[in-house]
Amino acid sequence: MSDSVSRERVLSGMRVTGRLHLGHYHGVLKNWVMLQEKCDSFYFVADWHALTTHYEEPGVMQRNVWEMVIDWLAAGVDPTKATLFIQSRIPQHAELHLLLSMVTPLGWLERVPSFKDQQQKIKGRDLATYGFLGYPVLQSADILIYRASQVPVGEDQVPHIELTREIARRFNRVFGKDAVFEEKAEQALVKLGKKAADQFRRARRAWLQEGNADALAQMNVLIDKADGLGDEERERLHGYSEGGGRSILPEPQALLTPASKYPGVDGQKMSKSYDNQINMRDDPDRVANVLRTMPTDPARQRRNDPGDPDKCPVWGLHKVYTDSALQQKLAEGCRSAAIGCLDCKKPLIEVMLEEQAQLRARAKPYEDDPGEIRRTIDAGCERAMAVAEETMQEVRDVVGTVYR
Ligand code: TRP
Ligand code: SF4
Repeated sequence: MSDSVSRERVLSGMRVTGRLHLGHYHGVLKNWVMLQEKCDSFYFVADWHALTTHYEEPGVMQRNVWEMVIDWLAAGVDPTKATLFIQSRIPQHAELHLLLSMVTPLGWLERVPSFKDQQQKIKGRDLATYGFLGYPVLQSADILIYRASQVPVGEDQVPHIELTREIARRFNRVFGKDAVFEEKAEQALVKLGKKAADQFRRARRAWLQEGNADALAQMNVLIDKADGLGDEERERLHGYSEGGGRSILPEPQALLTPASKYPGVDGQKMSKSYDNQINMRDDPDRVANVLRTMPTDPARQRRNDPGDPDKCPVWGLHKVYTDSALQQKLAEGCRSAAIGCLDCKKPLIEVMLEEQAQLRARAKPYEDDPGEIRRTIDAGCERAMAVAEETMQEVRDVVGTVYR
């Protein structure tokens, strides 16, 4: 985490649901694991977001939160590389949510597709609430408070990231360019030393008055080579050099997670709502049994009936797990009825059980000692809070609620 200053910051949240399944693992979590290697990654449990739709059953969170985080760790999310935390432990998210709500027009929220969609889809819940309308504002606060530049999300979340960008832009426009900003930029400038500070001021005039791009580049060099500047000061000076207010809350980008093609045991997409899932830490006997009895190409009634892998739900799993040489052999065997379905399933069951064993092994220390996951999250919350609080100090400053 030592080079977190220069690495891109990635942030993503997951609502609390039940146990995570292999679709989550192959879709979302492996992507998180990959990103933690090269980015300063923040991953969190969006428990307040879960509450916006499940406020009538708050027990869902207590029952599931630790197991969900253990599933992350089982996937290989590494708490020494990524910062893992729980949204509600960082009350600064709520504070920023409130402040962002001041500049968020109602119309923007009413137009977010998930607002109407979910109200229609989720029957039996009253979602005509202030909290649910504010769902994407809370999400914006989650993202902006860490100044994340990349937000890995599924396609359904892209409108929320777009809205986050608009809210950030609006916030920066309203609050970004005030006296405090200029004053602080000038204070930071002093740290460059007199000579460099003078050069900077001259270059700034050349850029702002004549649009001299070389002058802008010169300021960038001055900022970059100055030592003794903090992260925040550096960013502030960059904003100052361009003439605008510093973007207090930088606009993030959606990093699209490809839609999971991981098949459920009935051949449809794996999803809890279809009840076709294999959990990440499922019981090995159950997994073997589910796979053995999984439906195959309906044309293969008897052992001697030829089949077609493209019409077989099992084949979707082969595509995830087995290499192409084996696949070719099995496909031929299927089409010529040279092999039975159990022969075809056997190598698949083997790799899937191996994968499960690996997931369970990573989870084991946390399953054995319930204190371990709690300590891991405590440490992550502490790191997250330090970053969130730093942003909030500046936010409070620019919105004018700091009274000296
Ligand atoms: N709304 C997201 C979902 O349903 C979860 C979420 C909450 C999130 N806050 C976030 C995702 C911030 C990315 C960034 O999947
Ligand atoms: Fe499916 Fe394999 Fe049976 Fe063919 S042999 S129907 S691909 S399980």
